[in-house]
Amino acid sequence: MKLTQQIRRVMPPPVSLANALRAQCPSHIDLLDLSQAVPGYPPCQPVINAGVAALCDPATHKYAPALGFEALRVAHAEAEGVPVDQVAITAGCNQAFAATLQCLAERGRSVLVPTPYYFNHQMTLSMQGFQVIEWPCREDMGLDWEALPNLLQPDTCAIVLVSPNNPTGYVTPADDIARLLRVAEQHDCALVLDETYRDFIDAVQRPTTIASDHLIRLYSFSKAYAIAGERVGSVIAAPALIQQIEKVIDCWAICAPKVGQIMALAGIGHAGDWLSDWRERIQARERLMLNELAGLAGYQVASSGAYFAWLRYPGDRSSTAEAEYWIKERGILALPAAVFGSAEAALRLAFANLDEAGITELGRRLRA
Ligand SMILES: Cc1ncc(COP(=O)(O)O)c(C=O)c1O
Repeated sequence: MKLTQQIRRVMPPPVSLANALRAQCPSHIDLLDLSQAVPGYPPCQPVINAGVAALCDPATHKYAPALGFEALRVAHAEAEGVPVDQVAITAGCNQAFAATLQCLAERGRSVLVPTPYYFNHQMTLSMQGFQVIEWPCREDMGLDWEALPNLLQPDTCAIVLVSPNNPTGYVTPADDIARLLRVAEQHDCALVLDETYRDFIDAVQRPTTIASDHLIRLYSFSKAYAIAGERVGSVIAAPALIQQIEKVIDCWAICAPKVGQIMALAGIGHAGDWLSDWRERIQARERLMLNELAGLAGYQVASSGAYFAWLRYPGDRSSTAEAEYWIKERGILALPAAVFGSAEAALRLAFANLDEAGITELGRRLRA
């Protein structure tokens, strides 16, 4: 049996690399795991209660509408300040991305992706047969406007932006997002904005609602309400695109998981203060981490925000070799720049996963 070249060319999930690295942690050292971008705490009680009640209701075990429960779509639309026909509920933000690109681009056409990139975006694009045009970030991990005109191709059908960024943590200023949207409009292509981590930055840093048929906003309930396993995300876009996405969801999953949708709805209704509290705690972790890493000879935090920091390290090891060195010698697990398509001597630190004691210990091990 033959497997397609297209799928064989896609890189393996970096989770397998993280697992292989984890296995190399010496048994006498407590692992400091900065590899995974997933909330390390349980959902708040009202969200759990809603999930439990949903499981006990026989109606839950039937399909939901492809675009999501009306109540969740309405609540999400209200929270986003858009009409309900601009909302599709998906099985996580990864499905939101794949379903969007399925509608936007034809095989062989190009998609512009700032690098370092979120690896699942790159993997999805290559398995769907798009040409990925890499747009390397500036030194400070912001968008390199000078390079942009030469990269955009006549067949470029989408520009992808993740803000706050995975893997760099960089928060693209609202003015830059508006500027990129103007570029997309002039080029008649889409700006696909992945805002999975936006709940972990202050409201003033977030882009204001911009109405444009060229803007597609993707969101994840995974991080906000700590329900990554329940698989709920969304697309917010012009109704014409949402109608096409309905076909994709219908074929791929029929609907996003219902228990997750009910939990997301409970989150919108009851988890506001809880989420603000976690935002503040994670921001405090970021400050502590920056403090711990400041002054470490040869190291530089290129950018940080929400869940992540992009740390440049001294020496000439490749990032994969450096990640191996960290786990074997220091018991610290961090993903190498290479899995995000970057040749930089850098590692991604998912610092939000560590509590204060863990971050202090990170500093101690790097200073040792
Ligand atoms: C930028 C980005 N988009 C999407 C996702 C996936 O989110 P979801 O769990 O909603 O599929 C992640 C998860 O790590 C992410 O980092």
